[in-house]
This record gives sequence, C-alpha cells and structure tokens, in this order.
Amino acid sequence: MELIRRLHLMREAVRKARAEGKKIAFVPTMGALHDGHLALVRRARELGDIVVVSIFVNPEQFGPDEDYDTYPRDLARDTDLCVEEHVDFIFAPDPKEMYPDGFRTYVEVEGLSSILEGASRPGFFRGVCTAVLKLLSVVNPHFAFFGQKDMQQAVIVQTMVRDLNLNVEIVLCPTVRDDDGVALSSRNVRLNVSERVSAMALRRALERGRVLIEDQGVSSVEEVETKVRDVLGADESIKIDYFAVVDPVSLERPETIGGEVLLLLAVWIGQTRLIDNISACPEPPDEAE
Ligand code: PAF
Repeated sequence: MELIRRLHLMREAVRKARAEGKKIAFVPTMGALHDGHLALVRRARELGDIVVVSIFVNPEQFGPDEDYDTYPRDLARDTDLCVEEHVDFIFAPDPKEMYPDGFRTYVEVEGLSSILEGASRPGFFRGVCTAVLKLLSVVNPHFAFFGQKDMQQAVIVQTMVRDLNLNVEIVLCPTVRDDDGVALSSRNVRLNVSERVSAMALRRALERGRVLIEDQGVSSVEEVETKVRDVLGADESIKIDYFAVVDPVSLERPETIGGEVLLLLAVWIGQTRLIDNISACPEPPDEAE
C-alpha cells in the first residue's frame, strides 16, 4: 500500500495502472474510517484491480460554525485499516494543494443542493461537489463508491456526473448499521451513552414510516410525517432538523405516495448532528383488480 500526498504523483500512479489495462476503483472519504467505509472498499476491491481511497477532510464543505477543526482525524489508524483491506493507494492531499491561493472555481448542482441538508448547511454540497470533481479529475477512476447513508449527496453526485458527462460509474452501497440499528458515521464517536440510546430512535422512526407505507398502504405524506415525527419527538433529547418524504430522483415532496420514496431525516442529539434515511415503496396495485 502506498500513501500519496501530491496530486501529480497520484495522477502518475493511475496513468501507469491504466496503461497496464487495470480498472481503477475509487472510494472518496474524509477518513476516520469505520465499517461503512470498509464496506465501500470491499465493493471497490470486487470491481476494480486497483483500489484508491482518498482521505481528505474537505474544508470547503464545512460552514464557518461547523466542526472542520475538530472533525475526527487518525491517519495512522486509517492506514492500518486500508492495509488490512488490501487498498493499493491512499490519496491524502494537502488542503493547500487542493485549494491553492487564488482558487475560485466551484461546482453547484442547482436546486438539489439547496434543499434538506443544503438548507440546513448552506454551501455544503457546493463544497462536496467541488472536492469530488477535483478528486475524480486526479484519480480518474472507472468506478467511484458512495454510501446510501448520505443519500442526498449520492443523488447530487450522480446528477453532477450525468450533467458534466464524467466518465465514471457511480456505485451506491447500502447503509451499514451497528447491531442497535444506528447507522455508522464518523460522528457517532461523539455520542455519550444516553445519546447513543437516543440515536437508536432514528432507525425506529424511519422503520415506522416504512411500515406505514409498505404494510399499511398509507399514501398521505402528512400522515407519515406526523407519525415519524411522533416517534422522534418521544425522546426529548432529540431535536428534529428535518424529516422529509421525497421522490428518490428529484428529491421533491410528492403530493401522495404512489411509488418509491425516500424518508430522510437529520436531528441534533446534544452537540451531534446525525442524518439517516431509508427507502419505501408501496405494494404495486394487483393487476387483476
Ligand atoms: O461523504 C464524504 O465523506 C464526503 O462528503 C466526500 C464525498 C468524501 C467529499 O468530501
């Protein structure tokens, strides 16, 4: 496994591998790797000959009051995990090389970037898309892997790739959860014991929504919203940022639930902001009827 810090060296390593006919599989991360990231790496290992993991805490996707400085960082541990997973290259560029003085080009997927996470975190997706596009341009992969845990991010990246005709296949991988149902996230380490118990309500609330839609045939968005919010509201340490039922492609709120929808939420538990989502699809009407 090789650790590469400079952009031109990363480009050169990939150029050589491509010249030998190798398929490049790329997992972009901000480090603090957990089993969710490792599931992406394992899928990358299946599809690619060369696996590149980027570890870059991207300053452009943090707001001025957010946790850029305190975001968990542990390159030594991340490196050990990547070695165990037979990663070929870690790409850990310096922010000053990614965003040199005078940097002024940003990518924005209009509309999708300003709702939900984007409404709560202005500039977040502009920062994500700019970093992802730059990383894709340097790593030049055949495949790039994203987790469904950050579903809005995945939809936005897919839209950017389509709109800008980028020659990469985006592979989405399922959310990985701990045994208690909490979706893996680098920020989970900040939860104390009672906050961790509260975090279990997220999955419970989303499951409640899924059961309403899939098993009980509820098609009213308002009813699903109210009942899911009730589950979250039962725990007074949870502050709901948003809960939304949306179309999986446009991310718009449907009038009624007639096909697949995403249930997306963000909450604060103490000082920690957590997001989660699941998809739900009502049973198709019986054709005989
Ligand atoms: O999901 C993340 O970890 C980040 O948003 C990403 C995709 C690595 C871009 O910085």
